[in-house]
Amino acid sequence: MQFIIPINQYKTPLWSIHCSTNKPVTLTSETQKLKQKMKTVCVTGGSGFIASWVVKFLLQKGYTVKASVRNPGDPKKVEHLLALDGAKERLHLFKANLLEEGSFDAEITGCDGVFHMASPFFHNVADPQAELIDPAVNGTLNVLRSCAKSPSVKRVVLTSSIAAVAFNGKPRTADTVIDESWWSLPDLCRQNRMWYVLSKTLAEEEAWKFAKEKGIDLVTINPFMVIGPLLQPTLNTSATYILNYISGMFFTPKNTQSTCYEDVRI
Ligand SMILES: NC(=O)c1ccc[n+]([C@@H]2O[C@H](COP(=O)([O-])OP(=O)(O)OC[C@H]3O[C@@H](n4cnc5c(N)ncnc54)[C@H](OP(=O)(O)O)[C@@H]3O)[C@@H](O)[C@H]2O)c1
Repeated sequence: MQFIIPINQYKTPLWSIHCSTNKPVTLTSETQKLKQKMKTVCVTGGSGFIASWVVKFLLQKGYTVKASVRNPGDPKKVEHLLALDGAKERLHLFKANLLEEGSFDAEITGCDGVFHMASPFFHNVADPQAELIDPAVNGTLNVLRSCAKSPSVKRVVLTSSIAAVAFNGKPRTADTVIDESWWSLPDLCRQNRMWYVLSKTLAEEEAWKFAKEKGIDLVTINPFMVIGPLLQPTLNTSATYILNYISGMFFTPKNTQSTCYEDVRI
C-alpha cells in the first residue's frame, strides 16, 4: 500500500510510523521502554536536515540508531549528531555511499527497521543522470537490497516526496487531495527539465516494484517543503527557500503551481 500524505494535512510524525502498531498495547511503560531500547534502526543520510531530526527523535525514544554518513571525518556532518542526547550510548555512525553497491549491508543486518532518507536534493545540476537520478534510483535499490538480505528488518520507511506524485499536469487547486492514484509523469519531468522531480518519481516507482517483488514492508512518505530549525550547521535546499524569501532572492522551481511548507518537528 502506498501512503500519500495529503498536502496541507501532513500531521503524522515520521518517527511514529515506525513505532505505530495495530496490536493492543499491554506493556507497562517500564517494559515498553526496555523493549524499545533493544530495537535498532538504521537511518540513511543521517547528517541531512530531516534525517538529523529523525535521529534525534529516535534516540529520545530509546532506540539504538545506526546512521550512515558519507564522510564521518567531516565535523560539519557529524558533530551535531554526536552532541544529541543518547548519542554517546546509542548512536553509531557508519560510512556509506548510495552508489557503492553493498555499502549498507553490514550495518542494516540485524536492524529492526530502516529509514531511507539519503538522496540528493538540489536543482542546479550539470549532469542530472549522474548527480540526481543514479544516486536516487540506484541508491534506493542498493539500500532495499541490503534490507532484503536482512530478515531482521520488519519495515522500511522511504522519504519520497510530493515531487514523486504531484507533477502530472492535473490541475491543483486549494481543494485538491493528492492520493495514492497520483504519480508524476517522467516524460513531463524530462520535457520540463525537472530533474529532482524525475529522480524522486523514478526512485519511488522502483522502490515499490522491488518491495513487492521481495515482500518488503515499505512505507513511503511524500512531504512538500519541509522547514524548521536546522540541527546541522549548513543549509539544505528547503531551508534555502526560506532564506531566499528573507533575502529577497525568492526562487521557486519552474512549473510549481503552489508551495506548501511542513514543520520538520511535527
Ligand atoms: N527537505 C524537504 O523539503 C524535502 C521534501 C520532500 C522530500 N524530501 C526528501 O527527504 C530526504 C532528506 O531531505 P533533506 O532536505 O533532509 O536533504 P539534505 O539535508 O540535503 O540531506 C540529504 C542527505 O542525502 C545524503 N546523500 C546525498 N547523496 C548521497 C550519496 N551519493 N550517498 C550517500 N548519501 C548521500 C546527503 O549526504 P551528505 O550530507 O554527505 O551530503 C545528506 O545526508 C531526501 O530524500 C529528500 O528528497 C525532502
